[in-house]
Amino acid sequence: MGALNYAMLIHITLLLMSLAITTTLSQAPRNQTFKFINQGEFGDQIIEYDASYRVIRNEDHIFLTRPFRLCFYNTTPDAFIFAIRAGLPNEESLMRWVWDANRNDPVRENATLTFGRNGNFVLAEADGRVAWQTNTANKGVTGIKLLPNGNLVLHDKNGKFIWQSFDHPTDTLLAGKSVKINGRDKLVSRTSDMVGSDGPYSIHLDHKGFTMYSGETVPTSPGNRRLLQVRPIGNGQQINQNRLNYNATYSFLRLGSDGNLKAYTYYDQVSYLKWEESFAFFSSYFIRECALPSKCCTYGLCDKGMCVAYPSPNGLLGWSQSCTLPRPPPCGKISAGKVDYYKIVGVEHFLNPYMDDSEKPMKVGECRDKCNKDCKCLGFIYKEDTSKCLLAPLLGTLIKDVNTSVGYIKYAR
Ligand SMILES: *[C@@H]1O[C@H](CO)[C@@H](O)[C@H](O)[C@H]1NC(C)=O
Ligand SMILES: *[C@@H]1O[C@H](CO)[C@@H](O)[C@H](O)[C@H]1NC(C)=O
Ligand SMILES: *[C@@H]1O[C@H](CO)[C@@H](O)[C@H](O)[C@H]1NC(C)=O
Ligand SMILES: *[C@@H]1O[C@H](CO)[C@@H](O)[C@H](O)[C@H]1NC(C)=O
Repeated sequence: MGALNYAMLIHITLLLMSLAITTTLSQAPRNQTFKFINQGEFGDQIIEYDASYRVIRNEDHIFLTRPFRLCFYNTTPDAFIFAIRAGLPNEESLMRWVWDANRNDPVRENATLTFGRNGNFVLAEADGRVAWQTNTANKGVTGIKLLPNGNLVLHDKNGKFIWQSFDHPTDTLLAGKSVKINGRDKLVSRTSDMVGSDGPYSIHLDHKGFTMYSGETVPTSPGNRRLLQVRPIGNGQQINQNRLNYNATYSFLRLGSDGNLKAYTYYDQVSYLKWEESFAFFSSYFIRECALPSKCCTYGLCDKGMCVAYPSPNGLLGWSQSCTLPRPPPCGKISAGKVDYYKIVGVEHFLNPYMDDSEKPMKVGECRDKCNKDCKCLGFIYKEDTSKCLLAPLLGTLIKDVNTSVGYIKYAR
């Protein structure tokens, strides 16, 4: 027993010694390390999300690899995000944020961004609380680089990437030349332009295409995400950017806070509008724009890409941005007399194309009974030609359709 412990002790000691040796061998050189303090002047250009920003640079490191640069930005006072900016201030084109490190945990004035000799890259509050880090201490990291394709990398002495921002996309997939899907598999939208934290929409990509989710559809259970779209894109490897009509240098694919997926292309041969929208998932040339659930606020009628009316128990009213949902009857005590529906002829719901085909045809009365019994059902769409019934757990944008597709919206009398 004692002999065994002794052998183990030697073994462990040797292991620790060899670890110590490798660590000393692979420390980052002193002149590569830096500590940047988030303070000082703000940039004076207009930038995406109407943000304020500070360029990250010191005497030895400027972290500028045209057109990309490391910055802090904030959209609300004293809540900073460490980010990668794309575009240059002297260009008459909006600079954009293509990667965020800590959007769910912004830091304050005087926070520090440190690349230490142990190879860890750490964003911490002035009091030392760590907000974000690469977790690369003692992994052989010897340097940090912002590459020409916008990838921020920590590499070892052989140039191998130990950590890279491309493995941690937020709402934007950045790639040189074209948009490719290679293992970075998830994008999550911002909440809004003002609020950078995780928003309701997410997209999961794989080689077959992508699946889009919305988390805002079931208000009673916030973690519960609902499937919005399942789509193959191009050949599964590359998006067919059908609006791409020039030799673009950079593109990125972004899941916006409205749930739309757009590609932007950077073209450095022109003097303005260097970032062009080159593709939009919900648009006149791909999936119709009206199928974007948030297109016409929380509830509106969309025709040919435009919000045209606001349905009400008294018929279609002129479009307004007020976005008031019809008051649904309270859950729990549904008595038949309290619930009614108003009818909108010729509309479809954004979920209609994704209906389960195995649903049996039924009469309109049965569809209505199902919706009556389900207090989460805000209305239903009934297809008169196929007798198919779709219960709507949220309304969103209703799409103008043939007159055999009829919407029934629940309301409390
Ligand atoms: C850092 O120091 C090494 C020698 O110790 C030198 O070769 C290298 O050029 C230096 N790098 C910078 C960025 O100054
Ligand atoms: C930031 O640090 C400086 C000293 O470097 C100090 O004068 C200033 O008050 C600090 N700001 C905040 C908001 O703590
Ligand atoms: C696009 O630009 C690159 C680099 O400038 C060049 O090598 C390539 O031939 C160009 N492609 C086309 C189709 O013009
Ligand atoms: C739909 O429109 C056709 C003519 O376009 C008409 O004959 C039919 O009665 C309409 N159906 C409904 C349900 O309004």
